[in-house]
Order: sequence, then structure tokens, then C-alpha cells
Amino acid sequence: MEIAAVNALLCPHCGLSFNNPAPGDNALVCADGHSFDIARQGYLNLLTGHGTKFVPDTAAMVEARDAFLDAGHYQGLGDALAEKVAAHLATNGSVPALIVDAGTGTGWYLQQVLAATASGSSAAVGLDISKFALRRAARRNPLAVNIVWDLWRDLPLGADTADVVLVIFAPRNASEFARILKPGGRLVVVTPLPQHLAEIAKEAGMLGIQEDKETALVQSMAADFELVDSQELLVPMELSPADVGNVALMGPAGHHMDAIELSHRLAHLPEKTRATAAFRISVFTPRV
Ligand SMILES: C[S@@+](CC[C@H](N)C(=O)[O-])C[C@H]1O[C@@H](n2cnc3c(N)ncnc32)[C@H](O)[C@@H]1O
Ligand SMILES: [Zn+2]
Repeated sequence: MEIAAVNALLCPHCGLSFNNPAPGDNALVCADGHSFDIARQGYLNLLTGHGTKFVPDTAAMVEARDAFLDAGHYQGLGDALAEKVAAHLATNGSVPALIVDAGTGTGWYLQQVLAATASGSSAAVGLDISKFALRRAARRNPLAVNIVWDLWRDLPLGADTADVVLVIFAPRNASEFARILKPGGRLVVVTPLPQHLAEIAKEAGMLGIQEDKETALVQSMAADFELVDSQELLVPMELSPADVGNVALMGPAGHHMDAIELSHRLAHLPEKTRATAAFRISVFTPRV
């Protein structure tokens, strides 16, 4: 765990900072003695003792997302994000800069972004409610602090600590993102466009995306953020039936999908199916 990232954290019990952990420590302890387990797999659980109502992604959903992303189908999005973050940090970031990935999942996008910033110039925190996801995220980004956390709660980070917050298909707690971002920092939000994967939405039993939610997104952030950049990104892909299965299972529909029923539905697909991923990347800065 990078010390620069640990230094940005606050104890969820008392709000004090954490002591620097020594290599191999299996707990993080705050200045008032509250102790939180560091799992064998490398992630930190700050939610201990609270429980949560939220239904996290299942192991199967997480596995599907990891396999799909690792196959490189969304590399175009990974590259676009990496470029935007690196460009911002090159002119405005502190060293080391802190990148917070809200809803980090398996950490694939954070890995792309960190690879594009100079070695040692960025520290990172990944937040997610799913332990299954964080196990993989901790393997992918071993220097980041990967934390089990519910994004709808106050975040366990100090005010004005983050240079960049990433929110890639994950919940947006605008006021908390604004609190943790430094003045002039960037909130980078990725949302699907209405035509996202339209060619395969039916086959894969995916939930429909009704409309371009950009206006709603900007409005929902308006009290805390100003939009500084908005880009549409289309990524053409050729997907095997297994890829279509993974992309179906990794989304919200994965909560309701039966793997056997899905495999029946995908059986008639050709060797390759063309589909287009369609994203919007919106970049915000906190209002002053
Ligand atoms: C669609 S996935 C996206 C993951 C990752 N950003 C990516 O694109 O690969 C949404 C992620 O948000 C997490 N998530 C959903 N609600 C959450 C909450 N209330 N608090 C923390 N994480 C949450 C899920 O566990 C999941 O990993
Ligand atoms: Zn404490």
C-alpha cells in the first residue's frame, strides 16, 4: 500500500488518520486505535461491523467482467480515460497525485490510468462494495489501497485529498466526490449511450438503456460540479458467443440471469457478432 494513499484515508469511526502500516501488517490502525483488517488478498475492509443493505455483484458477474475487459474489447475506453487523466495531471496534479476510483470493480480501468502516469507520480484508492471484485483489483493494482466501502456513505477520505475521481458505470455520490476533490480537481464519469451494444442487447437479455442521460447527469451534479468536457466514444467490436455471454453477465442484468438459459440463447450466434460499445465520458470540476 502506498503511504500517500493511506495518508488520505480517515477512520470511519473517529475521523482521525491512520498510522503508516509496515509491510506484511494484517491491519490498519487509526490514531485512536481503531483497527481494520487487511485481507490476505490485499484489500482493506473499512465497513466492518456496519453491514450493508446493498446487494454486491456476484463472483460470476465479477469473473465475467474481468474476462471481458482482459480480452481488450474496451481498450479504446481505457486508452481515452488514461489520456484524459494523464493530460490533467501533467498540468495540474500534485506529486504524488491521488486518483480515487469509485466502484473500481476489478480495477481494470484504474490499471490503464495508472500505467499512463509516470511511475511513482500517482497513488490510488479503489472503492467497491464487492469483495469478489476487490480481490481481483488488489491483484491488478497492488500498490493502490483497495477498500470495501459503500459509495452512498460518507467516503473514508479527507477533504481536498484527491486530484482525480473516476466513476465508471458506478454510483455517483456527487457531494462526497466534491468534498474529497482538491480545488481544480477532475471528476471523470463514464456512462453508456442509448445505442450501447444495441446489436446484441436482445440476445444477451440486457436491460435497455432508454435515453441519453447527459442532461440528467449534468443536472444531478450541478449543485457541486461544472461540466468541463464531454466526449462520445464509439468502440466497434467483433464478439464471440462467449464474449457476448460475458458482457451480458457483467452488467446489472447479471443479477437476474440464469447461466444455463443464457447459454441456450447464445447458442445460435455466429462465430463473430459485430457490436458497438457507445460511451460518454463527462469530465467535471468542483464548483468553487
Ligand atoms: C458495472 S460495475 C463497474 C466496475 C468498474 N468501474 C468497471 O467498469 O469495470 C459497478 C461496480 O460498482 C460497484 N458498486 C455498486 N454499488 C456500489 C456501492 N453502493 N458502493 C460501492 N460500490 C458499488 C459494484 O460492486 C461494481 O463493481
Ligand atoms: Zn478511529
